[in-house]
Amino acid sequence: MSRSLDTDLAARPAELLTEEEARAELARLAAEIARHDRLYHAEDAPEIDDAAYDELRRRNTAIEAGFPELIRADSPSRRVGAAPSAGFAKVRHSVLMLSLENAFAEADLRDFFAGIRNFFRRPEDLALVAEDAIEIIAEPKIDGLSAALRYEQGRLVLGATRGDGVTGEDVTANIRTLPSVPAALAGNDWPEIVEIRGEVYMERAGFFAVNAERAAAGEPVFANPRNVAAGSLRQLDPGITARRPLKFFAYAWGEASRPFARTHAEALACFHRWGLSVNEHSRLCRGADSVLAYYRDVAERRSALPYDIDGVVYKLNDLALQDRLGMRSRAPRWALAHKFAAEQARTVMRGIMITVGRQGALTPTAMLDPITVGGVVVQRATLHNADEIARKDVRIGDTVVVQRAGDVIPQIVGVVLDRRPPDAKPFEFPDRCPVCGSMAVREDGMAVWRCGGGLICPAQAVERLKHFVARDGFDIEGLGAKHIADFWDGGLIRQPGDIFRLNPEIIAAREGWGEVSANKLTAAIDERRVIALDRFINALGIPQVGQATARLVARHYRSLGQWREEMEAAQDPDSPERAQLLDVHGIGKGMASDIIGFFAEPHNRAVLDDLAGEVSVLDYDPPVQKAPSPLAGKTVVFTGSLERMSRSEAKARAEALGANVASSVSAKTDYVVIGADAGSKAKRAAALGLATLDEAAWLDLAGPTQGA
Ligand code: IVH
Repeated sequence: MSRSLDTDLAARPAELLTEEEARAELARLAAEIARHDRLYHAEDAPEIDDAAYDELRRRNTAIEAGFPELIRADSPSRRVGAAPSAGFAKVRHSVLMLSLENAFAEADLRDFFAGIRNFFRRPEDLALVAEDAIEIIAEPKIDGLSAALRYEQGRLVLGATRGDGVTGEDVTANIRTLPSVPAALAGNDWPEIVEIRGEVYMERAGFFAVNAERAAAGEPVFANPRNVAAGSLRQLDPGITARRPLKFFAYAWGEASRPFARTHAEALACFHRWGLSVNEHSRLCRGADSVLAYYRDVAERRSALPYDIDGVVYKLNDLALQDRLGMRSRAPRWALAHKFAAEQARTVMRGIMITVGRQGALTPTAMLDPITVGGVVVQRATLHNADEIARKDVRIGDTVVVQRAGDVIPQIVGVVLDRRPPDAKPFEFPDRCPVCGSMAVREDGMAVWRCGGGLICPAQAVERLKHFVARDGFDIEGLGAKHIADFWDGGLIRQPGDIFRLNPEIIAAREGWGEVSANKLTAAIDERRVIALDRFINALGIPQVGQATARLVARHYRSLGQWREEMEAAQDPDSPERAQLLDVHGIGKGMASDIIGFFAEPHNRAVLDDLAGEVSVLDYDPPVQKAPSPLAGKTVVFTGSLERMSRSEAKARAEALGANVASSVSAKTDYVVIGADAGSKAKRAAALGLATLDEAAWLDLAGPTQGA
């Protein structure tokens, strides 16, 4: 009875309410809106769309306008300005948070060891890195998410997620709720500042319990323990995190105000003494064979562990050697993740969908009957390209073997031929773009068919815009691939600059949007009007220029203006600017020609001009603050053989100090390091009057490389 009365009340126009009814309605709306706020912000599980939400708020405002004396202390209208923040504060990591290089086969592991032996060529190193002597700590690779805990004077002051490795999110309040994260370190031998890194994860039992609770409440369940760990750590309400059984294993560190260990094993022992959990299955191994035995042993015991692991991690034990090895663009050279074999399952392929990439690549995707592989439901798998389909002879209706490993896109391993329907025909790859209808073209020797529509193909343009706002580019919160496609369809955006001119009122009028969400989006867009140079370059989506190359370019050219000026000059094939680009270490011929080609296209230059009116691009700012290095920004060439250091170590050292290592001597070379038996490069350096260094002078400049 009262139910139908309430419903009636909720449906009655605001201006027809009596005072008593208005009071009841305002109470109901305050509770309703608060509940939806919580569902949306804290639980990532909204129950109503933005339009319905806005409607609730509008009704609240309308009733309050008629009965101002009834405005409640907890009225949603009073909370407008103080609405829960859209996310977490960003934290810049003082030391990059690296990820790991992956190995899948024994051969990759042997290469890792060979690489280490080739790097250390000093006579006194040889014993340390002999075949059976290389000391490695092997540990399980926990399937969770990495986090950094900063302790100052032994007290926890900051907990952060990894983010993109440069910038993460401040999740201190949530991290504090983990029982395995001490608020204060035990003992007294910790450095004044130490940032301990490790994995936040959930045991399988905890995962099942959380899911059972959600299922009982009619809420969607999580796919695997890793997702629930990530979701739980990124709650805006720490009360929710506290109720999720999260754990933490310490296995690495970032900034430390003084060295506190000589080996990785010692560091783990410190963490343990200071009250953190370290994994009890970590082992000291010597050489490749001992490491492989560990791998097999852990793989066998994997299902008996209470948490999910997706491989094992090997780390060179000696920290002085780690230091000398340094890192590649995103992973250290001294560590390796050895992944377990992928899990497989059988299902039926119902169709092949062709999607168009941002450079026009036509990529086939298998549409599958849903199947659970390694705890995750799989409905699509990549087929890579036309050759791959032909090679595997996958036909629509075939039963296929699907596999997935870790985070990688599921793949089709092969066809179960004896289950092939008799009428299945070989797949004919389309010869036209499914979106713009342009002829598909295939370059000589390339596996990929591309839409020949170039700038006229809307699919390519949409993909470029999606890439532009994605995480490694402009990283606009709340502007996902789905929204880009929708705004494109609505004619709101055609080129990147349009994103910054989006009008909240026009967005609010679109289906699924409301005033609040539209304003939130344009605020998020405004927040990104200032951007780092490397992110900006990556966002442009130049073929072959990803995050790592974008960093190289940013580091070399330092500002957008400088880069653009030099790339325009580099249009002339004989210009020094073109030679210079080719000389940037890590940039090959193909990449260089794609970069130059990008600037050759008037449309791209117009896009840049247009963007210049909307965003400001910061000059390059090296992410890791080290003592000023005399080599920062300098171009160095090595020639001849060095006695105290292998060529790979010398290169790694120079790069770690901020130098660009080039292979040929030009007028722009700052230093030429001349070892024994140097040939033509040394002569050329002399002819150009460049600064040359012998090995001793190089060692002075590059500083001590023995563990400090
Ligand atoms: S070491 C520089 N050790 O794996 C060293 N990582 O695939 C950085 N992970 O981002 C990581 N268990 O989230 C390390 N025992 C372990 C690990 C581990 C899991 C994760 C970590 C990392 C990812 C890289």
